[in-house]
Amino acid sequence: MSMFGRRGSDGSAPAPPPSGAKRPPPPAREPTDPPPPPPPEAAVPQRDPPDDAGIKRSENFYDIKSTVFSALIDTIDLSQLSGLDQESAREEIRDIVNDIVAIKNIVMSIAEQEDLLEDICNDVLGLGPLEPLLARDDIADIMVNGAFKTYIEVDGKVRSSSVRFRDNAQLMNVCQRIVSQVGRRVDEASPICDARLPDGSRVNVIAPPLSIDGPSLTIRKFKKDKLTLDQLVNFGTITPEGATILQIVGRSRCNVLISGGTGSGKTTLLNCLTRYIETDERVITCEDAAELQLQQPHVVRLETRPPNIEGEGEITMRDLVKNCLRMRPERIIVGEVRGPEAFDLLQAMNTGHDGSMGTLHANSPREALSRLESMITMGGFQLPSKTIRDMISASIDVVVQAARLRDGSRRITHITEVVGTEGDIITTQDIFVYDVMGEDGDGRIAGRHRSTGIGKPKFWDRARYFGEEDRLAEALDKANVLENEAASRA
Ligand SMILES: Nc1ncnc2c1ncn2[C@@H]1O[C@H](COP(=O)(O)OP(=O)(O)O)[C@@H](O)[C@H]1O
Ligand SMILES: [Mg+2]
Repeated sequence: MSMFGRRGSDGSAPAPPPSGAKRPPPPAREPTDPPPPPPPEAAVPQRDPPDDAGIKRSENFYDIKSTVFSALIDTIDLSQLSGLDQESAREEIRDIVNDIVAIKNIVMSIAEQEDLLEDICNDVLGLGPLEPLLARDDIADIMVNGAFKTYIEVDGKVRSSSVRFRDNAQLMNVCQRIVSQVGRRVDEASPICDARLPDGSRVNVIAPPLSIDGPSLTIRKFKKDKLTLDQLVNFGTITPEGATILQIVGRSRCNVLISGGTGSGKTTLLNCLTRYIETDERVITCEDAAELQLQQPHVVRLETRPPNIEGEGEITMRDLVKNCLRMRPERIIVGEVRGPEAFDLLQAMNTGHDGSMGTLHANSPREALSRLESMITMGGFQLPSKTIRDMISASIDVVVQAARLRDGSRRITHITEVVGTEGDIITTQDIFVYDVMGEDGDGRIAGRHRSTGIGKPKFWDRARYFGEEDRLAEALDKANVLENEAASRA
């Protein structure tokens, strides 16, 4: 199949012309394939009106497009266009489409014709009907369930979109084009594939026969503007005092573990903390899919690689973290710790790479530490658990817990210090917590952040070294809600 937008359903593959991309347009003829079937959900009344990017199409737009499109692919060899840059390819398509419209006596307004041209160029040169959705910054996710159903998530709400594909073959073609950018293929033999768009968006494709009603394409769009700590304060995820404590933790080179469930905001928080790294520090990031956006100039970004179709060439997180240590880093940032790389990260933290950070999936700071331990045990390191715990307590300074509460809001629920070990047990102390107080009438959770009354956390000396002890003391005092309330009552 051609790299370009040839429909799978169109059996008449034109032979490529010996030279040049253009032949004279063919005589007018009827399109060989039937017009696209109507979308199956057309008859079902929808609660939410589809969110179309302002595109209003006349009834027969898709018929006309289908006619013009088949004439176009009979006219040119689309693979020839790949030699051209986008601009020239567009010009070429524009000329031919104009010819076709004239020859076939198709009546349409200038605006419609421009629309048609845009659509066709998107099909041939880009990702077809997805292009208008990809261009929108307000969309977080795009979910395509077969050719005729596309949903998008905007502002945390999922709604249907009016975008549709001509048929499943066109959708499959778009999927193929996406995954070919990362050197992969999807077909019946390997129907599952992960890929990434050039802008950093993450893509998953699962094709028939596994996906029963046509290919299913999920795109998590890359957010260009990551949230900042100030924004998190505005959302109530943390208070200004809590944010100050986090800034000091980041700046004074504590080793930090960010713990939380899926979608609780771990990566977002990690990204916020990295803003307080000095610009002259050499930072190396290791991620499964690059998401972090460090502002510092001296950053090396590394990414793992899954095995190829033959099952070879995998580069694991552990490979990356181990390699990091030979790259003279000052800090190592691991996007998500989920396996034996935990051991190497702890070693790094323990051997002069202060200020290293990572996220981990757990529901409380204590659980985060025990998960770290089991990752090391499961990684096949033959170490007594006391040794592992000593290593954890010697390496990790602070655990920050993120949570997504049942009302959907995200909160930082703990800033907890690792204090040391007592016998076999790692001891921790909470220095800042979130108390759930109840629920208001609308089901929103009411609660408050507060410091726990610990006036001198263990990282106090670090903070002092970086000249932050006054700010730390002030934030801790101000956040000590319980004591301040008692004082004002007295
Ligand atoms: N405090 C927050 N308030 C609102 N939205 C947030 C907050 N933190 C993260 N998000 C959003 O939630 C989504 C998931 O966040 P992410 O940091 O990727 O979660 P995780 O890494 O825990 O899976 C992103 O779209 C992000 O912009
Ligand atoms: Mg994450």
